[in-house]
Amino acid sequence: MKSHWNIEDIEHAARIISDGGLVAFPTETVYGLGANALNPVAVAKIFEAKERPTFDPLIVHIASLGDLKKLTGELNEKVMILAERFWPGPLTMVLPKSDLVPDLVTSDLPTVGIRMPDHPVALELIRRAGCPIAAPSANKFGQLSPTTAAHVRKQLPHIDYILDGGKTAVGIESTIVSVEADKCVVLRPGRITPEEIRAALPGVEVESKALNDKIVAPGLLKSHYSPKKPLFILSNETQLPDHSGLILHSNAETPLNATRIVRTSENKSLLEVASGLFAALHTLEDDPEISQIWIEAVSETGLGIAIMDRMKKAAYQYQE
Ligand code: TXA
Ligand code: MG
Repeated sequence: MKSHWNIEDIEHAARIISDGGLVAFPTETVYGLGANALNPVAVAKIFEAKERPTFDPLIVHIASLGDLKKLTGELNEKVMILAERFWPGPLTMVLPKSDLVPDLVTSDLPTVGIRMPDHPVALELIRRAGCPIAAPSANKFGQLSPTTAAHVRKQLPHIDYILDGGKTAVGIESTIVSVEADKCVVLRPGRITPEEIRAALPGVEVESKALNDKIVAPGLLKSHYSPKKPLFILSNETQLPDHSGLILHSNAETPLNATRIVRTSENKSLLEVASGLFAALHTLEDDPEISQIWIEAVSETGLGIAIMDRMKKAAYQYQE
């Protein structure tokens, strides 16, 4: 595989972060738009660049458990078990914050979302910058998440630097779990399922907020991740309008008359669907021949829950 990065690029990006600038960088989930999490002026630039409302808190990315101790008040056993089992990896833990974390990062909440990304470039960037890195997904607020450097460049052409690490592997954002005294609550579904969290914490109640529950945290909005063209989830259409783009998840023949078909997988592999979902939406968003997008659903079990969460939110503004 082509290596997209070298150590000089990471060193350059790290210097920008420690000088208070903004760098987009790869993680295993999606690209993040990073700034020094302990510098409120730098963090403010993230909200400005994304046009993101400041009531929507950021995730802080760390490279060691030492950082975790500094950012959060107490480390109970559940936190240590989840960190041991899933980090580095696509799990964000929402925990009580320490005074070190600026209020802007957490939108004045008493808690902070923290994760250790499973990507060598992200980890080396955090180490070299010498600080935890606050980073939302590197897209304009409400738009499609980026899974390549080119996706970032399309939406955020003016940020200080884009560290290119190739295509991200997981493709959808991390699972967010609030670790509370008596239970865990999954606030956003992702690659790590509630079943996996339950298996790691025998005897602990693990709740999962239903997909259409009312907003449980600022920023977990119903409409999100949207392409700039109308998106519809296929039900039982027999015909599509002219200039339709179609996203399918297998090589099966289709009778539908799409102008362009993009396939995320040959055989409905959910790992491949997750990994290719945003890229397929970006491709059809960018195609001038296409004026609306139709996408096949997947069954809502396991990783399919997170995939359908993103798909429904992307399509939400076009639903009744
Ligand atoms: O995979 C990911 O999580 C990516 C990569 C870059 O790490 N990041 C990401 O960040 O998806 P963002 O900002 O697009 O989504 C973070 C979500 C927001 O919806 C926010 O409301 C929620 O996390 N969040 C952050 N801190 C929180 C907190 N203290 N309590 C509840 N929700 C929180
Ligand atoms: Mg996002």
